[in-house]
Amino acid sequence: MEKVRVGIIGMGNMGAYHANYLLEGKVDRCELTAVCSTSPHKLEKYKPAAIFGDGSELIRSGLCDAVLIATPHYQHASLGIEALEAGLHIMVEKPIAAHKADAERLIAASHSRPDQVFGAMFQLRTEPRYQKIKSLIDRGDLGDIVRMSWIITDWYRTEAYYQSGGWRATWKGEGGGVLINQCLHNLDSLQWLLGMPSRVRSFCQLGRYHDIEVEDDVTAYLEFPNGATGVFITSTGEAPGTNRFEIAGTLGKLVLEKDAITFTRNEVSMIEHCRTSRIGFMKPDVWNCSIPFSESPAQHATLMQNFVNAILDGEELICRGDDGLHSIELANAILYSSLIDATVDMPLDSASYEAKLNELIAASTHIKKVTEVSNEDFAKSFNK
Ligand SMILES: NC(=O)c1ccc[n+]([C@@H]2O[C@H](COP(=O)([O-])OP(=O)(O)OC[C@H]3O[C@@H](n4cnc5c(N)ncnc54)[C@H](O)[C@@H]3O)[C@@H](O)[C@H]2O)c1
Repeated sequence: MEKVRVGIIGMGNMGAYHANYLLEGKVDRCELTAVCSTSPHKLEKYKPAAIFGDGSELIRSGLCDAVLIATPHYQHASLGIEALEAGLHIMVEKPIAAHKADAERLIAASHSRPDQVFGAMFQLRTEPRYQKIKSLIDRGDLGDIVRMSWIITDWYRTEAYYQSGGWRATWKGEGGGVLINQCLHNLDSLQWLLGMPSRVRSFCQLGRYHDIEVEDDVTAYLEFPNGATGVFITSTGEAPGTNRFEIAGTLGKLVLEKDAITFTRNEVSMIEHCRTSRIGFMKPDVWNCSIPFSESPAQHATLMQNFVNAILDGEELICRGDDGLHSIELANAILYSSLIDATVDMPLDSASYEAKLNELIAASTHIKKVTEVSNEDFAKSFNK
């Protein structure tokens, strides 16, 4: 194979964004050969790519070597499994499934087809700032991690946003709110950098700011296996909002905020200083380090190029499909803890969570408003 023929299933905001950079030639050795949406009449402009109104037909068309799945969440696992069974490589938009049990089904299907590439669209993995933080942590520059806090309340969305799709912010169509959608990127980064917590306790408010049935405001307490603690706060209703990520280790404190990473480095471990100092109030001396990082790449196109290179050359994936499990598990556990008003031990029992979600779907009485809205500023929705 000299180039990869890609079909996109789901041509809404995100699918169209992917299609546009592919058509602009931003991904080498990749050709957009088919597109699919439940409103196929809106896709004429993508010709000569073939147009489908049904994902299964695109998968069986023989026109694609790979599919990029950008539909609402519940279809990610079912279409992903179907595409794998048809012998195609898959790149799945975040979340890789609507909940952990579905993600496990998709991952199991991919494990039985190890020659097919399965990638997940978590573009923050390409962000130099997170890569820099990861290398500082992995090199041990922060020492042992003792605490983290991430206030990520700048995922502001209007009522118009929620009304722009019948599936949005519903238990049945989306499987949750801010956790499974917007801040899933941050949950992925969190676990990529710090690993998974062992226990979660949270408080989620459903429809606090919007006329929706799912969570749009979240405060979660996390506990990690080494005893480190964490707080994760997010919302789609707050403006201007904050994006401040702080990680404290025995060798210092790192803060990512307002496009800057600052590292206040202890000259000696705070634990060692605590045990050996003869002075009651004296802190360890510090160095203030500013950490440089390079410009953001075109994040989505970079992940797609990596996916194509993985298919053609066996390049290692920046974000493997399997890696998509952890952010879903974290999102589900945070929501579940609030729903059952209890601490949740990890790993999350995916069957119990799926049963709870099905209960919410069955009990739903929410009347969803849907209106035609302009999403022309969609690219501004991406958050670093
Ligand atoms: N990685 C990112 O930065 C990013 C950003 C936004 C959205 N997303 C993800 O992309 C996905 C789509 O979000 P969106 O905002 O584009 O939604 P959207 O509502 O704008 O578009 C959904 C599209 O899927 C189509 N569709 C629905 N059911 C289908 C089916 N069964 N078969 C084929 N097509 C179907 C619809 O016709 C529509 O074209 C979601 O999973 C979302 O989380 C990712």
